[in-house]
Amino acid sequence: MPKVFIETLGCAMNERDSELLFAELHSKEGYEKAQKPEEADLILINTCSVRERPISKLFSELGAFNLLKKPTAKIGVCGCTASHLGASIFRRAPYVDFVLGARNVSKITKAVSERRAVYIDTDNDDSEYPFANYRSSKYQALINISYGCDKQCAYCIVPHTRGKEVSIPPKLVLDEAKRAADSGAIEVVLLGQNVNGYGGRFASTSDPIGFSELLEKISLIDGLKRIRFQSPHPLHMDDRFLGVFADNPKVCKHMHMPLQSGSSRILKAMRRGYTKERFLELAARVREVASDATISTDIIVGFPNERDEDFEETLEVMKAVKFEQLFSFKFSPRPMTAAAKMENQIDDETASARLNVVQSLYKKRLYEAMNAQIGKTFEVFLEPSTDGTGLYGKAHNFYAMRILKGEVGTFARAKAIAIERGALKGEIIA
Ligand code: 5AD
Ligand code: SF4
Repeated sequence: MPKVFIETLGCAMNERDSELLFAELHSKEGYEKAQKPEEADLILINTCSVRERPISKLFSELGAFNLLKKPTAKIGVCGCTASHLGASIFRRAPYVDFVLGARNVSKITKAVSERRAVYIDTDNDDSEYPFANYRSSKYQALINISYGCDKQCAYCIVPHTRGKEVSIPPKLVLDEAKRAADSGAIEVVLLGQNVNGYGGRFASTSDPIGFSELLEKISLIDGLKRIRFQSPHPLHMDDRFLGVFADNPKVCKHMHMPLQSGSSRILKAMRRGYTKERFLELAARVREVASDATISTDIIVGFPNERDEDFEETLEVMKAVKFEQLFSFKFSPRPMTAAAKMENQIDDETASARLNVVQSLYKKRLYEAMNAQIGKTFEVFLEPSTDGTGLYGKAHNFYAMRILKGEVGTFARAKAIAIERGALKGEIIA
């Protein structure tokens, strides 16, 4: 049997694309997984281009794979960077055999069999493509509900790499969620660039519904216990959506609310569609409708024109919302985006200093938030911990704890008892 080694960078959508790449190769060509690139007949790098750094990483890794690989093995570059660099990848890394952009996953077997194939059409529509069933996690099923993004955030390359937004028909999403539940998944993660904008456009469907209704329908599936989704956009957080979020017991009370900046002036330049005040109001609503909800966010520092006053407002929003989880980035000018061409780009020193401030404020906040959980009891789902030293119990609302003993694959009641090595430690209570 031929073997494929897949390296995945980037977001959960990319992880799912890697699963689908494997599903195609396995079901059509009999590929199995290689544990190491040296053993593989095919090496795929599924790339991310949201920031510059992963691209330089891509080329150094490609070079390393080329030295390691079997002489007959092929190398394919897939994903978002493949979409935007296209055939130019051959110039920088001539040993690459093919380029397969995000949104062209269904073409993988063709790409492997042709010479120097380049499939990067962002209009390609896989929304109704019958991929074979494959998931890397037994308990958690990643499920695409839409492809692409119609927003035009000034910093973001994704609309150029993943194309226009198209939703997957509800029947297909529901069938997939049922299939996952039937094979033992207890949790689904609904994926899209803009999940709560679901239903804006379908390639074809007789049953167009929105995201809130989709959540309700999925929650009726027997066997599924938890529904997560990523990422929602603050712009589409209407009352209906917040109602389902708060009231449906299967919907996990964890909301990702990408803030990006706390300054309304910068938000406008970013074309985010909300102000600082609107964001604060929404975050307060989330906490009001679901008292145990956690809120995570993404913040970009050093967007063009960001003054000290603007940055202070970002810190203000952080202090007001008290995010339980925060991902922060220095602005990275990306090709084809409006922000890359803006005047008053911020120097790296200033951006790095701001990033440090955000990260240390968050570190303090995270410690406080975890500390406040000590003594509380959670219903957790037990999975083997990745470091092999015990179990990992995940509560519905993002908190997770290390637990020494328990039965993998079951729910248990656990109490948080301490913070150890930066994570909560818990014990199962009868
Ligand atoms: N520079 C820095 N961060 C970015 N993100 C998206 N584009 C850029 C960029 N050009 C961040 C945003 C987004 C997260 C996935 O990546 O915060 O929410
Ligand atoms: Fe995911 Fe965006 Fe990176 Fe593409 S560019 S892999 S959509 S994070």
